[in-house]
Amino acid sequence: MFRLKNVTRRFGARLAVDDVTFDIPEGQMVGVIGRSGAGKSTLLRMINRLADPSEGTIHFGDVEVSSLRGAGLRNWQRDCAMIFQQFNLVPRLDVLTNVLLGRLNHRSTVSSILNLFTREERIMAIAALERLGIEQTALQPAGTLSGGQQQRVAIARALMQNPKMLLADEPIASLDPLNAKIVMDALRDINEREGITVVTNLHTLDTARAYCERIIGMSAGRVVFDGPPRELTAEAVRTIYGTGANGSEIDESVTSTAIRNPVRQDNIRESASPTPLVLAGL
Ligand SMILES: Nc1ncnc2c1ncn2[C@@H]1O[C@H](COP(=O)(O)OP(=O)(O)OP(=O)(O)O)[C@@H](O)[C@H]1O
Ligand SMILES: [Mg+2]
Repeated sequence: MFRLKNVTRRFGARLAVDDVTFDIPEGQMVGVIGRSGAGKSTLLRMINRLADPSEGTIHFGDVEVSSLRGAGLRNWQRDCAMIFQQFNLVPRLDVLTNVLLGRLNHRSTVSSILNLFTREERIMAIAALERLGIEQTALQPAGTLSGGQQQRVAIARALMQNPKMLLADEPIASLDPLNAKIVMDALRDINEREGITVVTNLHTLDTARAYCERIIGMSAGRVVFDGPPRELTAEAVRTIYGTGANGSEIDESVTSTAIRNPVRQDNIRESASPTPLVLAGL
């Protein structure tokens, strides 16, 4: 069980995340939604300690993540892999090496990297690339791949960490609909087959609805919605995103990536009753 308790993050006088408390049971796939500046990235960054809470505690099982230092912190960052909108690969290194970089946190000293990776690690890296359907790119410089391929490399690199939790900050925001679907399908597959907890920030409602069993809606740093997609009513969406400039209704299609795919079993009731909403001004 993963637990945030009264977590707040300030930047100067600004409250980026404001007194957030929730639990995530192991193996859940959670989507975090909210308008720009709502605090989604800050929340994710605190989970893997790229940012520190100003107040509050974060626990994973018995471990207090929020107070880890040194080796304990490095171990947590290994257990809690993260992928980003902009992939964060090393563009001039080949794909295989980029994936192998996911093993760095398993090594005690930088010098061990210079001895290159073991045969087992290389086999593991190729297997990760095969799983994501991009093994044929293994020897290409990562920067020459398409965005969708690069994000799959980033997922393969994350898998090399053997993570307990996978965080994704707008993983499909830079991708076209087809690649967005491939990447979201890969995250769901990892969640369902390995039982790895996935927490992903998403800027499109339809993607969150289709892929996530639980949606957390943020507004001005606070959690204003937390529930399954079927409970994300028009009113709940207005609470999260607000209304248009003059109180007008919002067209939900504005936030659509047009991913059309089979939804999770537990989301079927929701997908049958789409409600037109307004999300202007996001
Ligand atoms: N390093 C920082 N220094 C100062 N303010 C910051 C910093 N990081 C975030 N903020 C502020 O905290 C608030 C939340 O930002 P955050 O990036 O978490 O939002 P977000 O929901 O991820 O937005 P977006 O959808 O645009 O990515 C914003 O007001 C932002 O300006
Ligand atoms: Mg963000």
